[in-house]
Amino acid sequence: MPDPSLQNQVGPPGVFQDVGLTTMGRLNMAGLRPEHDVLDIGCGVGRTARFLCDYLDSAAHYEGFDIMESLIEWCQEEITTRFPNFRFTFVPLYNSAYLPDASLPSAVDLRFPYPDESFDFVFAHSVFTHMSPDASANYLREIKRVLRPGGISYSTWFLFTETPSGSPSPLVAGMELDESGNFALHDPAVPDTAVGYREAFVRGLYADAGLAIAEPIHPGFTKLQDAVVASC
Ligand SMILES: C[S@@+](CC[C@H](N)C(=O)[O-])C[C@H]1O[C@@H](n2cnc3c(N)ncnc32)[C@H](O)[C@@H]1O
Repeated sequence: MPDPSLQNQVGPPGVFQDVGLTTMGRLNMAGLRPEHDVLDIGCGVGRTARFLCDYLDSAAHYEGFDIMESLIEWCQEEITTRFPNFRFTFVPLYNSAYLPDASLPSAVDLRFPYPDESFDFVFAHSVFTHMSPDASANYLREIKRVLRPGGISYSTWFLFTETPSGSPSPLVAGMELDESGNFALHDPAVPDTAVGYREAFVRGLYADAGLAIAEPIHPGFTKLQDAVVASC
């Protein structure tokens, strides 16, 4: 287990283990299999990877990347040393909440550091909830590029129908709608703190990326994030 100071960088205190287990269950229901080569976008401090270590076959490859170096270092030291088929990569990018260094490249232009069609399953838990619309659109296109034909993606979002105020999630309900109507922010001064999206807009991003959503979108209700499963 990473120590609490590292745990608290990826979510609220006290629920690190529960969130990892919940994500594992949802990945499994989305179609994850032990033989899959897996990409974990914004892997953080290995909250899900810790469970995947015992789940994935030793012949399967896991790759995780994140913009926070200290979290990646923990994963490399504590996970890769025990499970050499698990690799973690630090990719420095600007994020107003997690890495507010304006000299860094933008996620809008990132090409994931992996070849085309190299994964069977790609997931991003609680990452699109901290990204701008343009960056999210790029990441969906990159997911499509690195997935093998028939591959599966699983991503969580804060979704609302027309306006955030109707959401059952108190966090989303309190967000401020952008004038575009496509997204909403918890803290406009630090946009990446938490980003909510209009569901129809996200459906359009998936369609533009060539990813077919496996219906239905799984609602997060009051506490979880909404989960979108898609294939290419
Ligand atoms: C709420 S944490 C979730 C971490 C991990 N997915 C988990 O479930 O524990 C959000 C993570 O997204 C990472 N992140 C933010 N922007 C990113 C980006 N553009 N690309 C990759 N990771 C990013 C942050 O550094 C942070 O580790």
